[in-house]
Amino acid sequence: MRQFPPDFLWGVATSAYQIEGATRADGRGESIWDRFAATPGKINDKSDGSVACEHYRRWPEDIELMRWMGLKSYRFSVAWPRILPEGRGRVNVAGVDFYSKLVDSLLGAGIEPFVTLYHWDLPQVLEDQGGWPARATGDAFVEYADVMSRALGDRVKRWITHNEPWCISVLGYGNGEHAPGHKDWTKALATSHTLLLSHGKAVQAIRSNVQRAEVGITLNLTPGEPASPSPEDADACRDFDGGFNRWFLEPLYGRGYPMDVVEDHVKAGRIPSASLDFIQDGDLKAIAEPTDFLGVNYYSRAVLRSNRIPEEKNAPRTVHVRPDKTDMDWEVYPQGLTKLLVHLQTEYKPGPIYITENGCAYSTGPSADGRVHDVKRVDYLRTHLEACSDAIGQGVNLAGYFAWSLLDNFEWAYGYEKRFGLVYVDYATQQRIPKDSAHLYRDVVAQNGLDVEQAA
Ligand code: FCB
Repeated sequence: MRQFPPDFLWGVATSAYQIEGATRADGRGESIWDRFAATPGKINDKSDGSVACEHYRRWPEDIELMRWMGLKSYRFSVAWPRILPEGRGRVNVAGVDFYSKLVDSLLGAGIEPFVTLYHWDLPQVLEDQGGWPARATGDAFVEYADVMSRALGDRVKRWITHNEPWCISVLGYGNGEHAPGHKDWTKALATSHTLLLSHGKAVQAIRSNVQRAEVGITLNLTPGEPASPSPEDADACRDFDGGFNRWFLEPLYGRGYPMDVVEDHVKAGRIPSASLDFIQDGDLKAIAEPTDFLGVNYYSRAVLRSNRIPEEKNAPRTVHVRPDKTDMDWEVYPQGLTKLLVHLQTEYKPGPIYITENGCAYSTGPSADGRVHDVKRVDYLRTHLEACSDAIGQGVNLAGYFAWSLLDNFEWAYGYEKRFGLVYVDYATQQRIPKDSAHLYRDVVAQNGLDVEQAA
């Protein structure tokens, strides 16, 4: 048995737009994802989040599933357009009530709410006024953080400001794969800055409203490995790691923005010059506001091969991407999680770390016996929990693990094609069926440990 520390926070994660549906109910305003999904060609299966898992109505059933799994905590996000349909100003009481009831019921079920404020559903009106590249959107976010922490702060102690600033800035404003769909790297960099700045300011706002608050941010971190020992591959790896990981970690931990990343952007022709004129006096200090934990979303690693020299001139590959891949085409590589956690702990000393997302997409559905035998997900879960336990063994202060996701759901630009849930959702009937992975997770939580003999 691999035992986890006492008080280890076992949970699952979801986000509002991916599960709630009811996008027009009770005064909710339009979000950038409503607009983006309604734009032809943006979502692979032409779907949107208007129905999703009908969690807005079925949440008591979903809490029951979590209670059955014995979970200690639930990470969910609040839909900003339900709270402030115009982005700022008027508070929509019905929206606040929805989350307030959810929180009360979670607490009643012995499940601690872990709230993410921004999981990608910006009110469309704020996008119309300039979106995340505009500092005013950051100010609006801090006001929203203030509203929510006042409303729930008597019951919610753990808060995440933003989920995955890399995705919001690069996919949303750089390459346009996500809402709002801009392709402008100057905007992407300005977005990352507004996000980090508003994070730092929101930490302060939440702390002033919530006693014993624990506040942090969630980053999607992907460790890079050079495909060979050549200097070119080492440089490709530096470049990747810079844009993906260091660009966010370095300023958050008081080291400012890594300038090699800016130079990479200039060299690649993504931005015209290295001037970062969106940074103002005092910003870097505000971004580096100390936090209570770091949230880490881990899915895979990246193996980097230089494209600056021809393949035949580069050194032979010594690191190969393994053939074992999920439906996202992401390599299954649990060792990368251990390596990442140890690196974070030694390099940045972030205090407690939570894995705020980890999981895999496999399409496995119900068998003739009515159960969902998601063998590959069971394996993914096991090996990644072992990787967590290895990291703890190496001194990492890992305080909890949140599986992505409770339910199959709307996977952004992929629509409903990719199933990440521990619980299967039949979208025609909205029936929920716990997969074998949910049963495994239930055992793990009950034992506060992973039975390794059983796997062998
Ligand atoms: C992360 C997102 C989450 C989900 C998973 C698969 O990037 O935070 O909403 O889409 O990936």
